[in-house]
Amino acid sequence: MLEATDDNEPIAAAGEAASISKSARKRLLKQQRLQARKIERKAAEKERRREDLERRRREWEEKLADKTEEERTRLVKSRKETRRERMGKRTEERSKRAERLRTAAVVGQKVVLDLEFSDLMSPTEIQSLAHQIMYCYAANGKCEYPAHLWLTGCNGNIGSQLQRLPGYDKWIIEKESRPYIEVFQDHKEKLIYLTADAETTLEELDTNRIYIIGGLVDRNRWKGITMKKANEQGIQSAKLPIGNYIKLASSQVLTVNQVVEILLKFVETGDWKNAFFTVIPQRKRGAVEIEGDDTIDVAKIEKECNEEGLEADAEEEVEEEYADNDAIRTKKQRSESKTEETDIIKATES
Ligand SMILES: C[S@@+](CC[C@H](N)C(=O)[O-])C[C@H]1O[C@@H](n2cnc3c(N)ncnc32)[C@H](O)[C@@H]1O
Repeated sequence: MLEATDDNEPIAAAGEAASISKSARKRLLKQQRLQARKIERKAAEKERRREDLERRRREWEEKLADKTEEERTRLVKSRKETRRERMGKRTEERSKRAERLRTAAVVGQKVVLDLEFSDLMSPTEIQSLAHQIMYCYAANGKCEYPAHLWLTGCNGNIGSQLQRLPGYDKWIIEKESRPYIEVFQDHKEKLIYLTADAETTLEELDTNRIYIIGGLVDRNRWKGITMKKANEQGIQSAKLPIGNYIKLASSQVLTVNQVVEILLKFVETGDWKNAFFTVIPQRKRGAVEIEGDDTIDVAKIEKECNEEGLEADAEEEVEEEYADNDAIRTKKQRSESKTEETDIIKATES
């Protein structure tokens, strides 16, 4: 039986692998390989950042080593100024993004992520979905004309997984624990469920409509589930016009973040072909199909989505601040402050 719970746990107990079918075993091994690679990648990234900080600190100290006290003070001042400018630029970008998202909440294309499928996914799939949602949020924030994004049915396992994302509380997005059918009960005729199984093909996006995307990571194990849901609820459905523009090597079922990105690209360009070619990865247009968040650089997107945390930046700033202060302290002061410095760096790392 599968037991995946989090990144660091094995997916199945060793003895269990023998009792499952050949294809399930292959899938399991693949998942284990991916998981191991993910852990390795994370560790390598952490090490790379540590080395990078260390190298920069060394270079800075070398640069200051043969300088007079006066030159040091000047260099430190100028570095502080550059840092202040950099931080100012970031703050400005963030506030522009917030402004765009607030405008989108009034005039943007409504796009709903239907999160009512938690019970049909494994913990790993739910985690993957949370990463995809984070990716959607980041992609939306970068757009000149973002969509008005809704998370509906936002509770249960996916709700708690989202809560664990850094900065999630501050996301400018609609978070609704109620199902969309209740939220939009007075606008049912405007709802269009996007599903690869629909007969109707989407031609345009209509700002008066509300497009729903199924919050599922299921490798299409639950084939047709969103189509069935739309039919049962008596709401319209449509598929993306992929086949009109591009021939895929495998199924036309895309991931949640790919669909969101395609819609965003279409809002921006009004050109489906461009949207499909920009978003659908080469490998899906080639031979192999992969679903999941393998292509999502989680650490990078977490940083982009975190309005105020930006832990890595903060860590960097603390390091630089200390290097600056070090440069204008006497040797004796430096050794006295060493213990304190180590404590603070440790605190930012934990
Ligand atoms: C990974 S798919 C989930 C597949 C699931 N078995 C189903 O029945 O919808 C995630 C969601 O992206 C949207 N989607 C994926 N491919 C699509 C396509 N070709 N056209 C329209 N929507 C699509 C659908 O809303 C779908 O629920």
